[in-house]
Amino acid sequence: MEEVQQQQQKRSWRSEAKTAYEEWQVEEGIPRYSGSYIENLNTLELGNWARKGVKGGFVNLAGQELDDAYVVEIPPKGQTKPEHHMFEEMVYVLSGRGTTTVTQADGVRHIFEWGRGSLFAIPLNSIHQDFNSDGSNPARLVAVTDAPLVHNLFHNTDFLLNDSFQFKDRLNVDPERYNGGGKFLAPKRWETNFVPDVLKFKLFDQSERGAGTSVSFELAENTMAAHISEFPVGTYKKAHAHGPGAHIIILSGKGYSLMWKKGDKEKGRYDWHVGTMISPSDRWYHQHFNTGSEPVRYLALRFGGNKHPMGSGFIMEYGENGDQIEYEDEDPEVRRMFEEEVRKNGAVSKMGAVPSRKLNS
Ligand SMILES: [Fe+2]
Repeated sequence: MEEVQQQQQKRSWRSEAKTAYEEWQVEEGIPRYSGSYIENLNTLELGNWARKGVKGGFVNLAGQELDDAYVVEIPPKGQTKPEHHMFEEMVYVLSGRGTTTVTQADGVRHIFEWGRGSLFAIPLNSIHQDFNSDGSNPARLVAVTDAPLVHNLFHNTDFLLNDSFQFKDRLNVDPERYNGGGKFLAPKRWETNFVPDVLKFKLFDQSERGAGTSVSFELAENTMAAHISEFPVGTYKKAHAHGPGAHIIILSGKGYSLMWKKGDKEKGRYDWHVGTMISPSDRWYHQHFNTGSEPVRYLALRFGGNKHPMGSGFIMEYGENGDQIEYEDEDPEVRRMFEEEVRKNGAVSKMGAVPSRKLNS
């Protein structure tokens, strides 16, 4: 009896109604992809997206409705319809070349040119439009937004898509930011609206997460943010866990990630290559492994901006100890699997011996 009551209680936690975000997705009428990863964003099948005037598809990963992703493809010499919206948007260029215009209500217009590897953010609610400048090849873009969070908060699509409020604090910034200009807010934190090529951006030591380098981006005065990490051939990162919403795009190299919930015996394995997107679930451990012959570089589009933080308790927070598993504390199977994979690929592990455990003082 007690067990039945508990189950009923559990069921009542979630409403049977669709969320405002889910309803909006149905209205938009394009394919929707879920799960923990998309094996190849470059070949994801897309449908006609009437509102944007191009083909598109939603990507909803890690079973959460806080942030999401979508992919669009702009045909040769084609363009998206102009739009504005009350959710933040960061865009990565998967392929092709083109331009984007951002227009303010006072008529000021910014135009910037992008190509494969570019990253940019649209200032909240500003009118923008993307153009493919290539006459023979499509351009494919992937965007990460906080549309689910904002849709579910306001549950009013008209407000989200048609309100004309101008965020002067986000628009009145150094116009050079649209040309790739910016400044370091901290030694590893670059502020801009546009990064011409994340594949070439200079990175800095990030040895606290194991081998590798990184840099963070604060974009367009957003609360959302991004970072790039790179780690060398024959190495892997330390496992760690945090809140949901990070969308990781593989920019170079090949390997795999392990993801698991605290206490799980089995770890899920996700093999990846350039163009894969992977997203860890809320507080699941995740760990990335380079088994190929070149450095792995990835872009993470996520919550957790440092300039405009969301405060204590918000979703990208780490646990008390950073929720990181040091190499010496990890399951020995993790190292064994990595060394076997590296051998299979004809590469050599550079991880050295497993460090000895630190003694408690
Ligand atoms: Fe992470």
